[in-house]
Amino acid sequence: MDVLHTVAELRDRLRGERAVVLVPTMGGLHEGHVSLVKEARKHGDCVVTSVFVNRLQFEPGGDFDRYPRTLENDCRMLEAAGCDVVFAPDERQMYPEPQEMVVMPPKVAATLEGEFRPGHFQGVATVVAKLFNIVAPHTAIFGLKDFQQCHVVRALEKQLNFGIRIVGAPTIRDPDGLAMSSRNAYLTREERAQAAALQQNLRRIKALVEGGRRDYDALVQGVVSDLTAAGWRVDYVAVRNRSALAVPGPGDKDLVILAAAWLGKTRLIDNLEADL
Ligand code: PAJ
Repeated sequence: MDVLHTVAELRDRLRGERAVVLVPTMGGLHEGHVSLVKEARKHGDCVVTSVFVNRLQFEPGGDFDRYPRTLENDCRMLEAAGCDVVFAPDERQMYPEPQEMVVMPPKVAATLEGEFRPGHFQGVATVVAKLFNIVAPHTAIFGLKDFQQCHVVRALEKQLNFGIRIVGAPTIRDPDGLAMSSRNAYLTREERAQAAALQQNLRRIKALVEGGRRDYDALVQGVVSDLTAAGWRVDYVAVRNRSALAVPGPGDKDLVILAAAWLGKTRLIDNLEADL
């Protein structure tokens, strides 16, 4: 496995590769990321994983500075998972000058995550566009754990004609149901014991919706109250359609329940698909 730090080295290494598959990450890798690399192996013959903590997608006062940076361990995991090339640029490689050219994401990026993290998806779309241009993959793998991010990336690919196949991969969870996340490392032991409640509450809504309930606002309110009573600070819980992340209409059959909430200083997000 090659570990490369500059755009020039990477382009050199990839010259002549026919089927490059990209897995963009910010490092702090866990089994969820590993599953994306394993998925990537099925789609081409050269798997590139990028590891770059993208300042542009963190809001001021966010956790950019304390975000886990564990490149050595990341590389060990990536090699074992069958990755061919790690692209780990520093900020001067990715942003040699102030990034004034940015990608303006679609309106859907202002809802849900975007409402609580203004500018987040502009930062994501901009760095993903740069990675698409640097790596020029024919397929890129994204986790459905970040459901809205997948949605925004699909719009980016389509509306800017990248000609890259976007594959969404399922969420990998700890045995108690907590979605794996680099940010789980921030949780105290007590918080970790509580953290699976987010997923359990999404399951509760899913069961009720699949059982015929359509009073989404009431279902959401119930869950928000319970989480709040248990000490969470809820940013949002929402039932949406999967196609547009819009409030479901009577004809919508493919839904997703999304949530973001804080346990102490840690913000967790999760989602669960529901099929009517
Ligand atoms: P990061 O949070 O490191 O996630 C990298 C990829 O791993 C994303 O596609 C994310 O959805 C996926 N992922 C995270 N947790 C997962 C889990 N438990 N199961 C399956 N996949 C999981 O998302 C980002 O980085 C950044 O926004 C990025 C796209 C790299 C742009 O900077």
